[in-house]
Amino acid sequence: MKTNKEHKSPFRNLLVTGGCGFIGSNFIRCLIKNNDFSGRIINVDKLTYAGNPENLSDIAAAFPSRYIFQKVDICDAAGLEDVFSRYDIDAVCHFAAESHVDRSIKTPGDFIQTNIVGTFNLLECAKARGDKFKIFHHVSTDEVYGSLGADGLFREDTPYHPNSPYSASKAASDHLVRAYYKTFGLPATISNCSNNYGPYQFPEKLIPLIVLNALEGKQLPVYGDGKNVRDWLYVEDHCEAIWTIMTSGKSGETYNVGGKAEMENIIIVQMICDILDEIQPAKDGKPRRGLITFVKDRPGHDRRYAIDFTKLNKELGWSPRESFKSGLRKTVEWYLNQKKWVENIKTGAYQAWITEQYGS
Ligand code: NAD
Ligand code: DAU
Repeated sequence: MKTNKEHKSPFRNLLVTGGCGFIGSNFIRCLIKNNDFSGRIINVDKLTYAGNPENLSDIAAAFPSRYIFQKVDICDAAGLEDVFSRYDIDAVCHFAAESHVDRSIKTPGDFIQTNIVGTFNLLECAKARGDKFKIFHHVSTDEVYGSLGADGLFREDTPYHPNSPYSASKAASDHLVRAYYKTFGLPATISNCSNNYGPYQFPEKLIPLIVLNALEGKQLPVYGDGKNVRDWLYVEDHCEAIWTIMTSGKSGETYNVGGKAEMENIIIVQMICDILDEIQPAKDGKPRRGLITFVKDRPGHDRRYAIDFTKLNKELGWSPRESFKSGLRKTVEWYLNQKKWVENIKTGAYQAWITEQYGS
């Protein structure tokens, strides 16, 4: 992870929220090994179904004085205030969220609480730090812009048009962050990123779901006609973009982050089938493409996302390193090699461990 400026430990006590999730755990792993950062990371996570402390067990063991985990719900304002003062927090990188669109259609209430009220609580704590506080970075999504037709790209000045409870809650939290910058002068940046993929992604999202279903010979559900388009970014590239913005970005600004890798869902599913057939052919010898099943479409399903990240590239020098082809192969191989991790998620073993450690 590099930045385009020389920075020596710009923050002493960085609060990362949602650090036991997919992107947060990748971010912490990258950052703690980054020569530009010698401070402490305080990871605050509620450990929902998507938060897995196993994602960072190696980091917890190797860096006991620089990595601190606190099981706290960001909706618990008093719990957060305690963490901010106890660890003298001077910066925040805010990942914690309910992140799955399908769940937001079934149980929107959790999204309102965590994504909006939780973000508000964090902003209040950051504001209370006064001049000590250096930066609040909010990790957001391209879904706030809504859906594109066949042409065009999301730019930072594209009007917000969220279509799902998830994207509406993220849009609300973006607005709160911007309001705290404008009204209270809180130093803050926002990134709006496209679809991430890579190690440690919870297998409810398209890529890991398809990999694991295909390995078990289960149906591969493709919503609608399979021609919805997403712009895919390897997770470590996203982490590098976030760090670049936190250390070199301009307070009050928003930066779009994307992979320049637009793909139809059906093409991705076919690619995964072909990679698996090559590395680990099915026991019955049949091509896995035969498992593809078109299912009922997601309500309000956005048709196409595509990102223009010219601002981040021109102003801060960031661009993605990983190609979709090599990144997807690496990701499939990672899941093939993580049998224990997958088993623990499937059997709920890690959830049982959380209950034993922390109570329900
Ligand atoms: P994830 O679902 O894998 O992880 C979310 C983490 O937040 C989990 O560890 C969970 O336990 C924690 N969490 C949830 N509610 C909490 C609460 N009330 N208090 C404390 N912790 C809580 O999500 P992800 O895919 O890693 O996404 C992280 C962030 O990045 C989210 O804000 C999401 O909106 C944003 N984002 C994700 C993507 C993507 O493709 N995954 C793309 C752009 C932006
Ligand atoms: O664009 C950024 C967003 O990307 C993030 O903000 C969200 O947190 C993240 O979950 C992701 O949202 P998507 O809805 O795009 O991701 P998901 O993996 O759920 O779906 C990707 C595409 O695949 C989408 O068009 C729906 C489709 N899909 C998904 C699943 C789970 C299927 O066809 N079948 C499936 O089983």
